Amino acid sequence: MNAIASAPERKVHVPLGERAYDILIGPGLIARAGAEIAARLKGRKAAIITDEHVAPLYLDALVQSLEAAGIASATLVLPAGEKTKSFEHLMTACDKVLEVRIERNDYVIALGGGVIGDLSGFAAGIVRRGVRFVQVPTSLLSQVDSSVGGKTGINNRHGKNLIGVFHQPDLVLADTDVLNSLSAREFRAGYAEVAKYGLIDKPDFFAWLEANWQAVFAGGAARIEAIATSCQAKSDVVVADERETGQRALLNLGHTFGHALEAATAYDSSRLVHGEGVSIGMVLAHEFSARMNLASPDDARRVESHLKAVGLPTRMSEIPGVLPPAEVLMDAIAQDKKVKGGKLTFILTRGIGQSFVADDVPASEVLTFLKEKHPQ
Ligand SMILES: NC(=O)c1ccc[n+]([C@@H]2O[C@H](COP(=O)([O-])OP(=O)(O)OC[C@H]3O[C@@H](n4cnc5c(N)ncnc54)[C@H](O)[C@@H]3O)[C@@H](O)[C@H]2O)c1
Ligand SMILES: [Zn+2]
Repeated sequence: MNAIASAPERKVHVPLGERAYDILIGPGLIARAGAEIAARLKGRKAAIITDEHVAPLYLDALVQSLEAAGIASATLVLPAGEKTKSFEHLMTACDKVLEVRIERNDYVIALGGGVIGDLSGFAAGIVRRGVRFVQVPTSLLSQVDSSVGGKTGINNRHGKNLIGVFHQPDLVLADTDVLNSLSAREFRAGYAEVAKYGLIDKPDFFAWLEANWQAVFAGGAARIEAIATSCQAKSDVVVADERETGQRALLNLGHTFGHALEAATAYDSSRLVHGEGVSIGMVLAHEFSARMNLASPDDARRVESHLKAVGLPTRMSEIPGVLPPAEVLMDAIAQDKKVKGGKLTFILTRGIGQSFVADDVPASEVLTFLKEKHPQ
């Protein structure tokens, strides 16, 4: 990890047999999207799904690049934000894909963040029992996480991501230039997931991030390196456990606490966005592991100091507004993770880069810990 690759573009191959695909990471990929797609896929027709923030910035460039490669496209622009992951918008997306006669060799292209990727992937997975799917992720979170791995879906009143299918993309084009228009807050939120891969099982990567995070934020080769390492890490986990029967759960490091905090703030992005919840959740997971005598408290301090340095929140007290009491957070945790005989499944750690799936965590210990950590 010491040398920063000088090559401007990286490729990560996801070896999933007949569902294998490439992730290309680098600058200028939207301008080359048509050529990259035409080189790999037969279809010459695409339905692009995007959102109202991303469309004015990158849609024209994508359409032109497809056109130049002989690919005709139609476009659907949806509202931005988590609420778009709904049945209503899924229906609109499916309608559009059928209306423009996307056949099984043609494709749906998701141009946007994780919201657009999850919704479009779901539509691609169910229309005609599955059409081809290309991800052009535009947020850092979607480039390092949601565009890889094939989980698609929408939310409903019972919770997030509860309705969906596994549908792997055929190609992922992560244009690193587009991250320059992302807000600093959204970039940091995506960075929490980058740091997560180090904390799961790559201590050298975490150390590299501690030394190089400023260069990652600035752009260029270090950013590409961090995204490629993250995609490789996600790919490794997905290939080992495509349908999450075991080890894929490691990707949820920090997410049990994080999801509870997101639910406690009613998914109000002005108070907390997903990556911020994950940041606080990862610190809590390390502190809880120390409390259970699994890891040194120094590791928790090291994690917190790095996340703080990049400007992420690390404490529940940093969330604006009043949080519900620890018991309510605990209820959200119990809903997120099935409790069996008072025991919870949690991702805990023995130190930096030594996370593991623990399926015997006493719920009572978690509640006591949350009461200690609660700001009120
Ligand atoms: N499928 C998976 O495996 C998986 C994994 C992690 C997260 N997710 C899902 O991803 C979603 C979160 O993704 P997200 O953080 O990308 O949210 P998002 O799609 O809402 O994007 C965040 C905001 O940034 C804007 N944006 C995106 N790219 C931009 C750019 N280049 N320039 C300017 N603005 C830009 C969007 O319009 C939006 O307002 C959640 O719904 C989550 O459940 C899915
Ligand atoms: Zn996440």
